[in-house]
Order: sequence, then structure tokens, then C-alpha cells
Amino acid sequence: MIIRTATQADLDQVLDVESRAFGSAVEAALVRDLLTDPSAAPTLSLIALDEAEPIGHILFTKASIDGQDRPVSSLLAPLAIVPDRQRTGVGRALVAEGLARLATDGVSLVFVLGDPAYYGRFGFSPAIPEGLDPPHELPEAYRDAWMVRSTCESALRDAAGTVRCADAIMRPEYWA
Ligand SMILES: CC(C)(COP(=O)(O)OP(=O)(O)OC[C@H]1O[C@@H](n2cnc3c(N)ncnc32)[C@H](O)[C@@H]1OP(=O)(O)O)[C@@H](O)C(=O)NCCC(=O)NCCS
Repeated sequence: MIIRTATQADLDQVLDVESRAFGSAVEAALVRDLLTDPSAAPTLSLIALDEAEPIGHILFTKASIDGQDRPVSSLLAPLAIVPDRQRTGVGRALVAEGLARLATDGVSLVFVLGDPAYYGRFGFSPAIPEGLDPPHELPEAYRDAWMVRSTCESALRDAAGTVRCADAIMRPEYWA
């Protein structure tokens, strides 16, 4: 398996991975929207390939806290592995590669709305107790699913407020 930056030439394959992973067109449409949304930049879009076959995709887009530029933050969404390759380590490899690249780029906080049992493995923990609120109020059962991972202690200590994400993913239906 190799992981590399996804380019415009990979778009159809990226959208196909998203559709197959989720069994729905919703996430593929979200990815397409995010990749053309100026407020999502800088983005990090990574594709996993086995030989030439696309088997996974992860997207990170810009996030900020109450409109501040510091600390530099990112949102992980979505992560998609094709059904017949799930639970074989592809997701783990994509998350690890993405987090490493973001750290190199000076991104000190990464947010995700996802399964705590899964993302907890990568150092994500609930963000609301840290004073970092999601863009929209979440149902009580999902409040712990809003998580943050920091590359350094001070980034988390100094940050508080409501997180703003790219316009394309700020639509309330993605947070209901
Ligand atoms: C959820 C998903 C991204 C996980 O990726 P994956 O490549 O299948 O998972 P990995 O093989 O990297 O799993 C790493 C570890 O997490 C575990 N794991 C996988 N999915 C899990 C889940 N939903 N909850 C808890 N643990 C999970 C694996 O068992 C594995 O454990 P191990 O290290 O002890 O072997 C993938 O299954 C997927 O695309 N699902 C459909 C789309 C989706 O739900 N995306 C996530 C929301 S954005």
C-alpha cells in the first residue's frame, strides 16, 4: 500500500471510495464541495492505493477557533475505506500519515466528529471539556464524539472557544 497526496486527477476515484465506504452519496458530495470551498483551504487530501487500486481516502480541512488564526487547526472529515479493505489497517495508516504531515506543517490542533473508540486510538479526546465547542450544538449522546488532538500541551492550554470549520461542512445537517 502507498499513501500519497490526492490530486485533481484522482477526484473520480476519491469520490468512488467515499461512496463505497459509506454506502451513500452524501460524503462524496461533501468531499467534492470541500475541495472547491475556498474557506476549506489549506486542505490535506490523501489517497491510499494498493498497486493502482484506490482503497482509502482521508480529508483534512481548515478549522479555526472563534475566527482566530492561531493556533493553526484542522478538521478530519471524512475518512473512508472501501468495504472489502476495512479493518486491515488502512484507516490507521491514513490517520497516522495525515497527523504526521499536519504536525510538520505546524498544525497544532486537529478536530474530528467520530467514534471515540476509534479515534481515541490516535490520541483524540473529547474537546468540549477542554473548552473547545463544536460549530453546532450536538445531541447529548454525541457530545463526546467531538474530539481534539493536540501536538503540544500548550496548544490545548491556550485555546478555548467555538470551532469554526469550512463553509461546506458548517451546514447543520452534518452535525445533527
Ligand atoms: C471506520 C473506518 C474509517 C476505520 O478504518 P479501517 O481501515 O477499517 O480501520 P483500521 O483497520 O485502521 O482499524 C484500526 C483499529 O481500530 C479498530 N476499529 C476499526 N473500526 C473501528 C470502529 N468503528 N470502532 C472501534 N474500533 C475500530 C480495528 O479493529 C483496529 O484495531 P487493532 O489495531 O486492535 O487491530 C472504516 O471502517 C470505514 O471507512 N468505515 C465506513 C465509513 C466510516 O464510518 N468512516 C468514519 C467516519 S468519518
